[in-house]
Formats: sequence, structure tokens, C-alpha cells
Amino acid sequence: MTAVVYYTASTLDGFLADEHDSLDWLLGQDMDHEGPMGYGEFIAGVGALVMGATTYRWVLEHGRRTGEPWGYTQPCFVFTHRDLPAPEGVRLVSGSVAEHWPAIAEAAGEGDVWVVGGGELAGAFWDTGHLDRLMVSTAPVTVGAGRPLLPRRLQLTLTRLERNRAFACAWYDVAGPGDRETWPPAGPRDLDEEHDAVR
Ligand SMILES: NC(=O)c1ccc[n+]([C@@H]2O[C@H](COP(=O)([O-])OP(=O)(O)OC[C@H]3O[C@@H](n4cnc5c(N)ncnc54)[C@H](OP(=O)(O)O)[C@@H]3O)[C@@H](O)[C@H]2O)c1
Repeated sequence: MTAVVYYTASTLDGFLADEHDSLDWLLGQDMDHEGPMGYGEFIAGVGALVMGATTYRWVLEHGRRTGEPWGYTQPCFVFTHRDLPAPEGVRLVSGSVAEHWPAIAEAAGEGDVWVVGGGELAGAFWDTGHLDRLMVSTAPVTVGAGRPLLPRRLQLTLTRLERNRAFACAWYDVAGPGDRETWPPAGPRDLDEEHDAVR
């Protein structure tokens, strides 16, 4: 059955990229691509990809700089308001995740849906109940500010944890819809009141 997986690398302080959309913090890190959370094994199970416009433009620009062709054989849905160049297999879409979900699921077939990023798009999948799993490889680096990994409050279950050279690789299941009722805790906290209670 298709699972929707947010597979990504992150800094230790929870960013996908720095404030200038640079991935320099990531590209020099040591990883065994055949090891835990390696790309080859992961991509083999992917039936369709989704990504936001900034991520897509980074991939296109990277291809232009390195001469590497578009690297995905699976259909790729790019959420954007822009008229961007689109190689074969790329569909530019705008609007809500819910609106495009039937086409994404159909394109994925028996494979998984890879939410490439960014974080807000992954959050939009969660908002609509279409995020099943996170696979996050965390690099031993902080950047202080940048593009957030997942700007939501989620309750997750850690299902597996491995080291891949420089990276801490963690697999999480997104908790079931029932947990949304208890997380986040209702209402803002009154810190003065809590302080008085423990005095
Ligand atoms: N560490 C990693 O492994 C990793 C993984 C993925 C991404 N990244 C990096 O992280 C950064 C992510 O950038 P980001 O936070 O800006 O997120 P993003 O999702 O890549 O791009 C956000 C943009 O996508 C478009 N968009 C998103 N949702 C839309 C919708 N529902 N309808 C229409 N358009 C929509 C909008 O752009 P327009 O309105 O301009 O079209 C929006 O500003 C990038 O630098 C990327 O390279 C890193």
C-alpha cells in the first residue's frame, strides 16, 4: 500500500537549508549511500514525488551547474504558482494538497509518495491526513536559521534509529488521527500560574 514518506536530511537545529537556500552544510557530509537510509534503496520504492517550487528550482539549478540530467523516472508533482520549465514527467500544480491528492496517489500506483520538501509542503500533507512516515538523516551541524524541517506540532513514534557515518538516521511513524485531539495540549500555557502552583 502506498505510504507518504517525508524523506530528508536536516541540520541538528531542524533546518533543511540555510536562509539563502544553501545546502552547503549537507553536500560535504560523509554518508554511505548503500548504508542505512541510503538513497538507492529508498528511491526504488518510490512511485511519485512531490516538492515545492524552491526545492524544484534548486534541483534544476544544480542540474544546470553540474550537467546532470533530471534524475527521476517517476512522476513528479511540483507545487508552484510559477510557469517553470518542466522536463517530461514533471507536473506543475497549484492549490491544496487535498485537491491534488487523487492524482498523486494514482500516479504513485503501488509505490510510495516521496514528499521531498520543503517543510511547509510536508506540513500541508500532514494537515490533510496524508503523511505516514518521516525518514530524517540528521547531520552534525547547526546553521542557526533557515528553512524549517517541519513547521507543525506533531506527535511521532520513533520506529528505528541507525548511524550512517556522519548522520543520525531516524524513522518515525506519524501518530494516528486520534492523537491529534491530545496534541498539542489545548490552549496557551499560563507560566505565571504554573510558577505559583509549584511555589
Ligand atoms: N535537506 C534536504 O534534504 C532538503 C530537502 C528538500 C528541500 N531542501 C531545501 O529546503 C528549502 C525548502 O524551501 P521552502 O521552504 O521555500 O519550501 P518549498 O516547498 O521547496 O517551496 C515553497 C514554495 O513552493 C510553492 N508552493 C508551495 N505550496 C504551494 C501550493 N499549495 N500551491 C502553489 N505553490 C506552492 C510556493 O512558491 P511559488 O509561489 O513561488 O511558486 C512556495 O513559496 C530549499 O532550499 C530546498 O533546496 C533541502
